[in-house]
Amino acid sequence: MALCAEIKNLSVSFHGRKAVSQVSAELPAEGISVLLGRSGSGKTTFLRALNRLNETFQGYEGSGKVCLSLGGKMKDIYSADQLTPTDLRRKVGMVFQIPNPLPMSIRRNIMLPLQLIPGFNRSKAEDRMETALKTTGLWEEVKDRLDTPANRFSGGQQQRLCLARTLALEPEILLLDEPTASLDKKSSELIEDYLISLKNRYSMVMVSHNIRQALKLGSFFIFLREGKIVTAISKKELPEGKEAEKIMSDLL
Ligand SMILES: Nc1ncnc2c1ncn2[C@@H]1O[C@H](COP(=O)(O)OP(=O)(O)OP(=O)(O)O)[C@@H](O)[C@H]1O
Ligand SMILES: [Mg+2]
Repeated sequence: MALCAEIKNLSVSFHGRKAVSQVSAELPAEGISVLLGRSGSGKTTFLRALNRLNETFQGYEGSGKVCLSLGGKMKDIYSADQLTPTDLRRKVGMVFQIPNPLPMSIRRNIMLPLQLIPGFNRSKAEDRMETALKTTGLWEEVKDRLDTPANRFSGGQQQRLCLARTLALEPEILLLDEPTASLDKKSSELIEDYLISLKNRYSMVMVSHNIRQALKLGSFFIFLREGKIVTAISKKELPEGKEAEKIMSDLL
């Protein structure tokens, strides 16, 4: 099985308190891996270990090894000579629980991160913006309002913008931290459908609180409890329908 991530003995603590403790896991390259567990079980911390975001917080201490499949090779992302955190975060894009558009227009939200890439070319960047907005179904909704501030759009539209902003950077891996948690049912379902449509293009690792959503989107599930993995199970090993939901909720 091709892997997108190999994690060995990962521990993360903040101010001396363990958030993730001696975790080892292998995440498949294909499909969506879903992290599940109760509040405070370490899901977000685990996800942030995959793009080195934990180290931007005060009191961080980490150990262990994280290798990601990038450019066709397994790379040790914490090794200084492999790639910088900035390069890593372009290749490993992240979408957060609460939509976090920049306080500027739709266009600037997507163009600004692209402008920071060496060799920036405006017309290519405009093409990438259009493609990304089409991929998240926003283009028809915003094409005549590209210079309107992002905060005038609905929560669901803002979250699709955040996904488009990440996709415009052409990542290889997508990290999604409860991307529908702040949205209504209809907007959530729309995002879920776009994520399913992206499954074959990116390796994805997603945190979800919602078993129905996890089963709909995911093909591999990791259950965390108090910073440790209690079970990792692939969808193929689960029965169909309600029975799978019951097994999953018992594991939470
Ligand atoms: N930046 C931080 N500074 C200090 N402590 C943190 C930080 N991030 C996480 N923690 C702590 O690490 C533990 C795990 O938190 P984490 O956010 O990873 O859990 P979670 O499973 O994502 O929870 P939730 O479902 O509520 O989002 C918690 O005890 C939390 O308080
Ligand atoms: Mg979290």
